[in-house]
Amino acid sequence: MSATLTSPVSRFSSDSTRNWTPDSWRSYPIRQVPEYPDRSALEAVEGRLYRYPPLVFAGEARRLQQQLAKASRGEAFVLQGGPCAESFGEFTADIVRDTFRVLLQMAVVLTFGAKVPVVKIGRMAGQFAKPRSSDTETIDGVTLPSYRGDIINGPAFTAEDRVPDPVRMETGYFQSAGVLNLLRAFAGGGYANLHQVHRWNLGFVAQSPLAERYSVLANRIDETLSFMKACGLNDQVTPQISETEFYTSHEALLLPYEQALTRVDSTSGEWYDCSAHFLWIGDRTRQPDGAHVEFLRGVRNPIGIKVGPTTQIEDLERLLEILNPTDEAGRITLISRMGADKIRDALPPLLRAVRATGRTVTWLTDPMHGNTISTAARIKTRSFGAILEEVRGFFDVFAAEGIAPGGVHMEMTGQDVTECVGGAHGLTENDLVNRYETFCDPRLNAAQSLELAFLISEELTRRSSVQA
Ligand code: PEP
Ligand code: CO
Repeated sequence: MSATLTSPVSRFSSDSTRNWTPDSWRSYPIRQVPEYPDRSALEAVEGRLYRYPPLVFAGEARRLQQQLAKASRGEAFVLQGGPCAESFGEFTADIVRDTFRVLLQMAVVLTFGAKVPVVKIGRMAGQFAKPRSSDTETIDGVTLPSYRGDIINGPAFTAEDRVPDPVRMETGYFQSAGVLNLLRAFAGGGYANLHQVHRWNLGFVAQSPLAERYSVLANRIDETLSFMKACGLNDQVTPQISETEFYTSHEALLLPYEQALTRVDSTSGEWYDCSAHFLWIGDRTRQPDGAHVEFLRGVRNPIGIKVGPTTQIEDLERLLEILNPTDEAGRITLISRMGADKIRDALPPLLRAVRATGRTVTWLTDPMHGNTISTAARIKTRSFGAILEEVRGFFDVFAAEGIAPGGVHMEMTGQDVTECVGGAHGLTENDLVNRYETFCDPRLNAAQSLELAFLISEELTRRSSVQA
C-alpha cells in the first residue's frame, strides 16, 4: 500500500502545490457546498474519515494518468460512464454488476471502432454529491432546501430529509468501499472475459430492432475473436482477455469529504485524493479563484474540468495554468458539454485557444448535460437523437481541427429504465413514467447505451476509413 495517512500540513513538493494544504480551499469563495447546522457532528465525522483507509491508491491514479495521456495523443479512447447520482437506496450487487457489464460491452464495441485501447472509468463508487441550479425547491407553495445528493441530504420532500447530515459522508464512504470491492472483483476475476462480454453483445444485437445493422459489426468482432483464439491467444497466455482495468471517478464537489480522504503517497511524497482515481470540477464550480479549483490544484490525481457554453477562453487558460503549471500529459481532461445545437459554434474557439497555449489536454464529449429538456408533463429527459448529434458534432469539430478526440462521457445505467426518449426501441414521452428511477438527471438505459456505442463505433470506423 503506497498511500499513508499524515496530518494535513503543507508540503512544498512542486510548484503546483506551493502554499497549498488539503484545507487551503476553506479560505476561498465556495459555491454549492452545504451549511451543516451541527458543526461538532461534522467535525466528528471528518475526524473519523481522516483515519479510515484510502479507497484508491496513488499508483493506480498515476497509471490512469498515463492512459489519459495516451488518449490526448489518439493512442487510447476514454469511456467514462455511470449514473448521474448514485444513491444509498440503490446499493445492490445487481445494479453495480449491470452497469459495469454494459460499460464493458460498450468498451468492446468502441475498441473495434476506435482501434485503440479503451480506458474504462465509472461514474461509480463515490458519485453522490450533486450541484443544483437552485438552493431551494418549491412544491405546492412549500419551499425546502434542494436535494444535493445522498451524501449530503435526503431526496424526500420533507424538511427533515433536506437537512444536510454529515453522517451521510460516512455512509457514502462505506458504500463506495463496497462498490469498489465488487468492481475490483469483477474486473480481475474473469467477469470481464472478452469472449463472454461479446456473447452478451450478441444478445443485445438479437433483441434490437436494428439487429441487421448492428450484426455487421458484431459479426466482425466475432470473427476477430475466433481468429485470436485460433492463434492461441487465450486467457492463459494473454490475461488481458479475461481481466480489465477499471477506474472510478466522481465530481469533487463535497470538499469536506474530499479533504478527509486526501493523503500523502509515501512513494512520491505527493498528495492524492484517495476517494477516487479521477475527480472532476463541475460546470458550476469551475471559477479559477474558487475553492474547488484551489482544492484540486494540490492533489496529484488526473482531473477533469467540465467545459460548457458559458466557459470563457481566459478562464479556461487560467484553469490550465493553475491546475497544470508544468503541463503534465494526462493531468487535465476537458469534458465538453455544450448541447447538440451549440457544439459546432461553441467548441472550436475553445479548442483553438487551448491548442494555442501549447498545453496538453485530453478532450471528452459529455453529450448529456447540454441536452436536458423538460417535457410537457415537467419530466426531465434527453433525446437519444440529440445525444448522438452532439457526439457527431464533437467528432466533426475535432476532424476539422485535425485533432484526435479523446473519448466520451455518458450518464447511463445497466437497468432497463425509461428516462431518455428515442433509440431503436422508440421510447416516447408517454413511456417515461414506466421506470423513471434516476435521483437526478435522466440516464440512457442498457439498450440505449449499447446502441450509442454501436453508432459511435460505426462513426469512428467510417472516419478512420475516410482518413486512410
Ligand atoms: C454531472 O456531470 O452530473 C453534472 C452536474 O454536470 P455539469 O457540471 O457539466 O452540469
Ligand atoms: Co448529471
